[in-house]
Amino acid sequence: MAISPTTIVIFGASGDLTSRKLIPSLYRMDRKGRLPENIRIIGVARSPFDDDSFRLKMADAIKSLSADDWNEEAWNKFAPRLGYARGDASTDGGLENLQNQLETIENGLPGNRLYYLSVAPQLYPEITKNLGKLGMASSVDGSASNPGWRRLIIEKPFGHDLSTAKSLNRVIRTHFHEDQIYRIDHYLGKETVQNLLVFRFANTLFEPLWNSNYIDHVQITVAETVTIGNRADYYDNAGILRDMFQNHLLQLLCLVAMEAPARYAADPLRNEKTKVLDAMPVFSVEEARQRIATGRYQGYLNERGVKPNSQTPTFAAVEFSIDNWRWRGVPFYLRSGKGMALRSSEVVIQFRCPPHLMFPMPPGSSIQCNRLAICIQPDEGIHLNFITKEPDRDGTVLVPSDMEFHYRNAYANVKIPEAYERLLQDALNGDASLFMRSDEIERSWELIEPFLLATEDSHAKIPEDYHIGTMGTAGADSLLAKNGRSWISMGLAKKPKD
Ligand code: BG6
Repeated sequence: MAISPTTIVIFGASGDLTSRKLIPSLYRMDRKGRLPENIRIIGVARSPFDDDSFRLKMADAIKSLSADDWNEEAWNKFAPRLGYARGDASTDGGLENLQNQLETIENGLPGNRLYYLSVAPQLYPEITKNLGKLGMASSVDGSASNPGWRRLIIEKPFGHDLSTAKSLNRVIRTHFHEDQIYRIDHYLGKETVQNLLVFRFANTLFEPLWNSNYIDHVQITVAETVTIGNRADYYDNAGILRDMFQNHLLQLLCLVAMEAPARYAADPLRNEKTKVLDAMPVFSVEEARQRIATGRYQGYLNERGVKPNSQTPTFAAVEFSIDNWRWRGVPFYLRSGKGMALRSSEVVIQFRCPPHLMFPMPPGSSIQCNRLAICIQPDEGIHLNFITKEPDRDGTVLVPSDMEFHYRNAYANVKIPEAYERLLQDALNGDASLFMRSDEIERSWELIEPFLLATEDSHAKIPEDYHIGTMGTAGADSLLAKNGRSWISMGLAKKPKD
């Protein structure tokens, strides 16, 4: 029997994401032998490409990303899989070219199709409706092994707030079933983010300590050195809370805080994440105001495309809590910003201090209590910080020391793959574990909304200025200082001296 073909259809093929992430990831997957033999990839956009000029553009993109990645032979094998179907997918008749190409590829067989919406978010509803209207959304159950599936990957942002996210969910679910929908949060595709689960649930060492009895607080930092570049159109309307907190940071928090699912499968995993979000209180706007500090890098207002009276924050620090048995009373401090001192994403678990120290210490001195840092990027690894005795000193001198694990040493010959490789692979395999379910998305918006109001309503403070190349604002420091805590940047401590 002929094997059903699989086609990945990328809407928004002339966009940045396609050339910087999607096609390079598919090309690398092909080099690793991870794409099905009979797969085709069709780009759809309004730009006047044909197959050849589209391939050329993609080849140039891969070469410019990394010369190491380029391999003529691999490209020549991959390129024939790539095609282009010009059209405006959000209009009537805009899918005609694509339909013709799919017909030729599938040649009467029940083909599998993975649609990827890499377009401006306002086009999501129209494209989904068109796919539905033309009968391109429903899976056709081709045979026992089930070829003929249709899946839809949707990029972030998923909505602008709770009500837009809900209505987007409604529109999409009119045409696709929940189990056909793959909402991307690319952070979940990062190796080290998945390693968080492995670290917690494939080891016994830390899990007994992973609760309010032993943990004082948790910090999650996603710092970027980049500024908004040429993304003002999007960013000035979104800001740091929509861009990073509603999705990436809350997802990290869920992985740190969730209970162990019984099985590594989409629903058990997503159920546990949703339980964490459910246990987080939705604050009033006034409470939210007390729990957030925002900032804006100096020069933001001069960025091209930013509104002159913009109040959009490019940095925020937020204190969340989780009201359940495990976490009650343990603050989760999240911060993220653009234009910061270093690119570093890390989770820091600050353990409680020993209840009593028997060692003679100078009056007023204290020790650095145990902490564990899980570094997500760029120096992927795990650091466990504990106290040691400095040898050959007068008396007992206590100093913090690090036990370190670095991916770059442990897996010296392995290049950490791009998150999109993993996510595309999973979507092809029908595994939605690392994608977000509609209830998760809606609850995340519910939790973020008071903070949006607190920073956007008429009482909102203008975000505090910070210099590019620093780690944020004094307000963010005060948020922790009021409880005698301070931000920890393991990444910063390890930043090589320039
Ligand atoms: C995206 C945001 O989702 O994540 C960007 O829209 C941000 O503003 C990016 O720069 C960060 O991703 P990464 O993988 O570089 O940490």
